[in-house]
Amino acid sequence: MTLILGVETSCDETAVAVVEADGAGRLRARANVVASQVAMHRAYGGVFPEVAARMHVETIHAVAREALQRAEVPPAQLDAIAVTHGPGLAGSLLVGVNFAKGLALAWEKPLIGVNHLEGHIYSLWLSDHAESLRFPALCLLISGGHTELVLVRGHGDYRLLGGTLDDAVGEAFDKVARVLGLGYPGGPAIERAARDGDPRAYAFARADLGEARPYAFSFSGIKTAVMRAVQPQPAYGKRARGEEALREGNLRSDVNIADAAASFQAAAVEMLIAPTLRAAQDYPVSAIWLAGGVSANQYLRAQLAARTALPVYAPPLALCTDNAAMIAAAGYFRYAAGQRDSLALDVQPMLPLA
Ligand code: KG4
Ligand code: ZN
Repeated sequence: MTLILGVETSCDETAVAVVEADGAGRLRARANVVASQVAMHRAYGGVFPEVAARMHVETIHAVAREALQRAEVPPAQLDAIAVTHGPGLAGSLLVGVNFAKGLALAWEKPLIGVNHLEGHIYSLWLSDHAESLRFPALCLLISGGHTELVLVRGHGDYRLLGGTLDDAVGEAFDKVARVLGLGYPGGPAIERAARDGDPRAYAFARADLGEARPYAFSFSGIKTAVMRAVQPQPAYGKRARGEEALREGNLRSDVNIADAAASFQAAAVEMLIAPTLRAAQDYPVSAIWLAGGVSANQYLRAQLAARTALPVYAPPLALCTDNAAMIAAAGYFRYAAGQRDSLALDVQPMLPLA
């Protein structure tokens, strides 16, 4: 049995987890503690980096203590400490990396740096269908900061097929939710509002990126299209811009919020699915994997599963958004492959997956 402590502070969740791997490499989270800063960032309508870093400093000790207690694992029994060292907010990453280094030094355990995006992929190993996962697979990695199609050829072996040319899909959900007055974080709020709406009520333009970029995504156009459709027309002069345009709930009186949410969700999901199905045809993959915060979206899961003969696998709902169990899971495979990082491990805010 191998026990890995995972630490995650790349954005607005302070998270520590303990993951156990049995002799056959089957993973199970013994504890998964997430202290969310969402309530605090709601006041700003998004993540405020300096505040996020400060809050990580304030909570990480208590979160780690609770994870170890819940897991009933004394530090001496741990085999390694895995920590997200990128990509993410520099100040936030620093808190987790320095904390993990301190533990590794004090407890004399190996330190393993993990890529946050790889962590999202490994959240699939903590699901019920972990034993059905086979390489190569096509992973649609969708979060607040990333929208990427990844060919997963083996453990730690990735080829980036395409990504977003502008906004990440989660960012589009968050901004559209803000425009519709649905609050932060926007993804779950849009999904909830959309249940009572008609996805054909509004026709939001979809980006056509052409044949030259079959696996690319673009979400800035649809965000603007929603704003145009729901915000008051200016009597004269220019449209609202920047912060004013994003003012919460500044809507025309005839706007049906549920219809707008459903129409946006349907269009955004279609924009995710089309390149994914194309890549699944072009590459001989065993399955389509979903990972990242937006993979919690049930409408997306259902639409994708209905349109492909391949199995579609997604993480357990609680592990779609940021958590440390996924970092410990990725850390386990890196540990098993022999990776050991020195105390010189640095944060890499722009760390690529491949
Ligand atoms: O992976 P994650 O927790 O953080 C990043 O690494 O970015 O993803 C957060 C993103 C947010 O943009 C949030 O609105 C979105 O995931 N999200 C969803 C849903 N749940 C979370 N988007 C659509 N539908 C959901 N149910
Ligand atoms: Zn994430």
